[in-house]
Amino acid sequence: MKTLYAKLAWVLIVSFAVIGGGLIFIWAMAKMLTGREVGEIVVGLALAMIAFLLIMAVTMHYLVTRRIGALAQAMQEFQAAGFKQAPNLLALVGGGNDELHRLTQSFSGLSARMMEQLQQLAHNDAQRRELLANISHDLRTPLASIRGYLETILLKQRSLDANEMRNYLEVATRQCDRLHRLVNDLFQLTKLEAHDVALQREPFSVAELAQDVAQKFALKLESQGLRLETEIPEDLPLVDGDVGLLERCFDNLIENAVRHTPSGGVLRIVLERGKPSGVTVRVSDTGTGIDERDLTRIFDRFYQADRNEAAAGGGAGLGLAITKHIIELHGARIEVQSRVGKGTAFAFTLPAATSMPPSPTYDG
Ligand SMILES: Nc1ncnc2c1ncn2[C@@H]1O[C@H](COP(=O)(O)OP(=O)(O)O)[C@@H](O)[C@H]1O
Ligand SMILES: [Mg+2]
Repeated sequence: MKTLYAKLAWVLIVSFAVIGGGLIFIWAMAKMLTGREVGEIVVGLALAMIAFLLIMAVTMHYLVTRRIGALAQAMQEFQAAGFKQAPNLLALVGGGNDELHRLTQSFSGLSARMMEQLQQLAHNDAQRRELLANISHDLRTPLASIRGYLETILLKQRSLDANEMRNYLEVATRQCDRLHRLVNDLFQLTKLEAHDVALQREPFSVAELAQDVAQKFALKLESQGLRLETEIPEDLPLVDGDVGLLERCFDNLIENAVRHTPSGGVLRIVLERGKPSGVTVRVSDTGTGIDERDLTRIFDRFYQADRNEAAAGGGAGLGLAITKHIIELHGARIEVQSRVGKGTAFAFTLPAATSMPPSPTYDG
């Protein structure tokens, strides 16, 4: 009996059959027997009928009422416990495939989903609070520093010589730059996380981009006693991507490498044909490397393997989170390999531009 309806019908049919049979029996007996005998039989039959109906009531209770009651109670307990522990409803209503069973399955699915969503909400809330704490901390530090220097200048205006004055103003300006970068990074990351960034895709030469970036950093690298090597084959295909955002990724990776490579070290930008297509970009250094424990977390926002990074002129731990988002928007994945004391290498493969010509742009 698959359905609740069939079960109920079966109970009713049996009940009616028994009652009907009993009545026919009494009617037949009434024709043959004396009044007293009929009276005894009727009493006997009535007792048998009551006993039978009791059995049927228990059967009905077992088939339907008990299960509905258990289901209702389990849901009430689930609610009373703040939807924290999903009850094992299927165990309560037993096997089979009737409507009650299917209803229970739906409730089960519903409560599991509800718990999942509530947990997700709690998790998001915790993350939001952590984010706010991080942001306020990272904004406060440079602000306090700027304020300190400006106050000193105001107080000691007359006693400061030109050199000192310049020094103070330079520090304040650097802190302003840091604030500016932080706010920009936050803005960009928030937009990326909200999927609010549309790629300005176009076919372009990643080889040219790599050369430009190498040139941009040449002076800075030289001043820090670092060597930059590039390995850029000539016959690379064009890739399909957003040049501005990808330049940002290159900048982030190289700035990190510069900061974590002691003087005398080497930075490399290597391009090669991607497998199966596109272009693989590898940015590596011979710097301090990243501990294995930190490797999985460096792409998290605000994560810095060394909490003194910011003080050492680093960012706020947003660079790699932004980079990862941008690479993923291009349908690619960024990978990292690192060995402490040996160096670090980041790699990703950009998709090849399709042979379609770029869409024409019209002026005015
Ligand atoms: N090339 C690298 N060598 C060593 N550590 C690195 C390198 N790149 C990133 N890291 C680690 O990953 C962390 C996160 O990097 P990032 O998100 O760019 O933040 P930030 O540069 O602001 O510290 C860095 O703080 C650093 O600990
Ligand atoms: Mg960085």
